[in-house]
Amino acid sequence: MTTPIPIPTLSAQAAHAVSVSPTSSSNIRERIRQNSLGSPAVRQPKVLHPVDNEGLRLLLLENISQDAVKAFREQGFLVDHFTKAWSEGELVEKIGQYHAIGIRSKTKITERVIKAASKLLVIGCFCIGTNQVDLETAAKAGIPVFNSPFSNSRSVAELVISEVIALSRQYFERGFEMRQGIWNKQSKNCWEVRGKTLGIVGYGHIGSQLSVLAEAFGIRVLFYDVVNLMPLGSARQVEALSTLLSESDFVTLHVPELPETINLISGIQLAQMKKDSYLINNARGRVVDIPALIAAIKSGHIAGAALDVYPAEPGANGSPFDDQLNPWASELRSLKNVILTPHIGGSTEEAQRMIGEEVSGALSRYLTFGSTVGSVNFPEVDLRAIALEEANHVRLCHVHVNRPGVLRQVNEVLSPYNVEKQYSDSKGDVAYLMADIADVSPQDVNKLQQLINKTSANILTRLLA
Ligand SMILES: NC(=O)c1ccc[n+]([C@@H]2O[C@H](COP(=O)([O-])OP(=O)(O)OC[C@H]3O[C@@H](n4cnc5c(N)ncnc54)[C@H](O)[C@@H]3O)[C@@H](O)[C@H]2O)c1
Repeated sequence: MTTPIPIPTLSAQAAHAVSVSPTSSSNIRERIRQNSLGSPAVRQPKVLHPVDNEGLRLLLLENISQDAVKAFREQGFLVDHFTKAWSEGELVEKIGQYHAIGIRSKTKITERVIKAASKLLVIGCFCIGTNQVDLETAAKAGIPVFNSPFSNSRSVAELVISEVIALSRQYFERGFEMRQGIWNKQSKNCWEVRGKTLGIVGYGHIGSQLSVLAEAFGIRVLFYDVVNLMPLGSARQVEALSTLLSESDFVTLHVPELPETINLISGIQLAQMKKDSYLINNARGRVVDIPALIAAIKSGHIAGAALDVYPAEPGANGSPFDDQLNPWASELRSLKNVILTPHIGGSTEEAQRMIGEEVSGALSRYLTFGSTVGSVNFPEVDLRAIALEEANHVRLCHVHVNRPGVLRQVNEVLSPYNVEKQYSDSKGDVAYLMADIADVSPQDVNKLQQLINKTSANILTRLLA
């Protein structure tokens, strides 16, 4: 669990006390270390708190990590932690007492829940997706939503490497035979991956990680992406998908599901792939036309495949993966040279830990500093930290309806003060302004908040000091 902004622990005096000899490299390293810890010249950030001084109460559902609970409690938040998801009814009944909520994918934050959430400031989805939250209603209520879209990229990339090797050495099939009591040692059509070509379709967070891992195995990497991107290592971007398909021994897909990526790999593309090559899909189920893949494997053109995602996936563990769910499921399951996994690409302990760190960090940064960077439904706004010595500075965090004339009204209220920094941005109907105001006396703080609250477009105003 990371704290939002590391606060140096070494005092300025202690930093000065280190004796430095300019000729010693270890001393130079020590001096750099001490400087990074906090020399007198470095601005020390002040941790801010809401001025209305109410203890911030967090509700964490669906067994969110105890590390996150501990970190929130250390920051002074009151935390209620539950292992299960709550129903809409339970949420409507109890959400009114909470300032923040952390959920995974099973808790639904509907319009009804948001209407009942009179104190709610922020929602954290401790997962990849945010479909379980009514994002628009949340934004209109002044509530930013944070998630962790990329924390599991490395886990997916590692799974793909394992699949490349598993397909190449056929150990999945051999292992399956051994379980049935069949000894079948063979080297025919089993290959080292060294010197083979991996074609990566979509060179984003996962594709680019994979590129680095693959090269470490001596694999040649080609990639295709709709955007021109800087290749990592010796990877090479190709201009056409067909070029990648015709040159690769393994083709792996890492694109989002978009109208133009649905059935990106269908009969024509499978025919363009090299004879005896392999297809791997850990992206989204509908990116591959699975009946066409089954046909290409049965014809012997494609040597095998690894699939982690499917057009329809069961809702719960233990549910069948059968023809009722996907009409071709049993035919696919009967192909020995196809590795089937239940959407586990991003499912590792490390990914879960990183999701916990990233989302709880984002919640803390919003609650204590007002930053919305990384929010999925809000304009992304942040300001440089207020320094420790700026004791009478307050930070205004003002969510308002995005319409003309709002800044004039707000700046009128702020005009008696020195506004040190100010930044505002909008997304759809909602706009967010952050401003740091110098020399506000404690008596003026509440007055300031009341005046901004009264402006005509106000959705939610917080003052942090
Ligand atoms: N199996 C799993 O458990 C798992 C886990 C995480 C992510 N995913 C999926 O993996 C996919 C990739 O994730 P990411 O984090 O790398 O995404 P990303 O947004 O970082 O990268 C996607 C890349 O695809 C490119 N792209 C978009 N349309 C394209 C097209 N038509 N042709 C070629 N390239 C195109 C984009 O330019 C971008 O570079 C997503 O679909 C995601 O949902 C699956």
